[in-house]
Amino acid sequence: MLKTEPIASVTLLTMKANNCLDASWVRTVLGTEVVGHRICYYPRIDSTNEQALRLADAGEAEGTVVVAETQTAGRGRRGRCWLDEPGNALLFSVLLRPACNVSWLPVLSLGAAAACAELLTSGYSIPVVTKWPNDLLVAGCKVGGILLEQRGGAVVVGIGLNVNGPPESLEAQVGTALTTLEKHYGAPLPREEVLVGILEKIDGIYQQFQGGGLAEVVGRYRRFESVLGQSVQVSVGQEMVRGTAMAVTDTGALVVDTGKGQREITAGEVELVTGSQ
Ligand code: BTN
Repeated sequence: MLKTEPIASVTLLTMKANNCLDASWVRTVLGTEVVGHRICYYPRIDSTNEQALRLADAGEAEGTVVVAETQTAGRGRRGRCWLDEPGNALLFSVLLRPACNVSWLPVLSLGAAAACAELLTSGYSIPVVTKWPNDLLVAGCKVGGILLEQRGGAVVVGIGLNVNGPPESLEAQVGTALTTLEKHYGAPLPREEVLVGILEKIDGIYQQFQGGGLAEVVGRYRRFESVLGQSVQVSVGQEMVRGTAMAVTDTGALVVDTGKGQREITAGEVELVTGSQ
């Protein structure tokens, strides 16, 4: 009995080490112009977005990617926190310095959602859709989200994806319906490979964006949008806008037909309205 204890703990440690994301492999295979010229990997950090902003303050060039195994103060949209299962999630932020008007930035954020959805649907046949503006869903449950933050001329696009493992323990902590990519793929996904694929997509989308191709970027996003044609309620500040989601404009706004006219919403939180509500 005494003999087996150390062996068991060594095995456990080895498994843990193997479960860590291999950031140097990601750097080696990445075929990008701008995104990922430098990858900063942290086993544990407060927030990859915060770290990318700190690097930006210190003069870091655009394209740097901050990746973490786990976050102690992960940030979500609207002041929420973002929790993760260490070793099972993808948590990363891309530092960019786009030469554009701030009113264009929502398009960059939709572009990041499109990058994830394109990679996961075409590369892994996982039916990922988007819920305007930045939720990634599979079968109606959230599998990831995007948080774009800006400071000075720096823009940080932060992406969190629940990749592997069962969603139940996270779900219990968050209190909403979550899922993981593994659940729909049927096997654990290689996180490094997913990260490379998404970064390469983001790189292409960023080139399009920088070239003024906003409509093209939004076009890529629209293919995945799940709320169009649906009855929705959108909280916009203190106001609740109810109606049918009609379109996403070329500048990334959601058009809602309220029955009394159309509203173009640039920021808000969408909820689907089901028959029973
Ligand atoms: C959302 O609320 O849906 C957006 C969640 C974004 C979470 C990611 S995880 C990596 C990056 N760092 C953060 O602190 N937040 C984003």
